[in-house]
Amino acid sequence: MSSATIQSFYDPTTGSYSHLCYDRPGGHAAIVDPVLDYNAASGRTATHNADRLLAALAEQRLTLDWILETHAHADHLSAAAYLKRCAGGRIGIGARITEVQRHFGPLFTPDEPVDVQPFDALFDDGEQFRIGTLNVEVMALPGHTPADVGYRVDDAVFIGDTLFMPDVGSARCDFPGGDAVALYRSARRLLALPDATRLYLCHDYPPPGRAACGMATVAEQRSANLHLRDAIGEADFIALRRARDATLGAPALLLPALQVNIRAGELPPAATNGVRYLKIPLDLL
Ligand SMILES: [Fe+2]
Repeated sequence: MSSATIQSFYDPTTGSYSHLCYDRPGGHAAIVDPVLDYNAASGRTATHNADRLLAALAEQRLTLDWILETHAHADHLSAAAYLKRCAGGRIGIGARITEVQRHFGPLFTPDEPVDVQPFDALFDDGEQFRIGTLNVEVMALPGHTPADVGYRVDDAVFIGDTLFMPDVGSARCDFPGGDAVALYRSARRLLALPDATRLYLCHDYPPPGRAACGMATVAEQRSANLHLRDAIGEADFIALRRARDATLGAPALLLPALQVNIRAGELPPAATNGVRYLKIPLDLL
């Protein structure tokens, strides 16, 4: 068994982290949570963030085995389909994505069947797979959404939206199927891992004066996380999380992001004029 090399890429526009994980130069890789650039005002997509990942793959001469989503993101569009077209690989996500697809699919495409699965792999808790010589274990981490999963590789876990940096706290739990009780338990499961375990984040929203950071250890989170340090019990977390969620508006890209991300990052098919259109359902959410 070799040890994983991890490179993290930050998108300051959406506050998102994507990660590249590979076994050795010239070996095999996975990309976690890639971002497709999207300007909501102009309706323009771009691939600057995804192309940085492709450049890193090329630089290390890596074969892309997997494109892994920790969940259906509501704050950015996924570049999974673009990366798959450019570099191959299979797109994987947690098995409970079907619940999210059943909820949101009919909002955007009421006349389309929802039983065509756009993801290549749906992972259950405890399932294992490989990135070249690396072993990956899937951890179901419901709370932010029912379908959130983490991917554990060696002493690192890509934890999606569960914990954020210690001074930011935790992910919101007010989306359909979200659950503060479940998030607390998912976080405790992560924080029961060895102290030196590196937890790789999906986002950072650094306060003024701190640079963005995409990783904190279990020990750092247990001692200092604003919402989930050891001193905060389940009832206190739930009260705190629910109070905070009550103040949050919908993410700016919620509607564009979900309709693309539940289709594994595939943009809607072009209309007869060759133009692709996103849909904005009115007065539904
Ligand atoms: Fe999220």
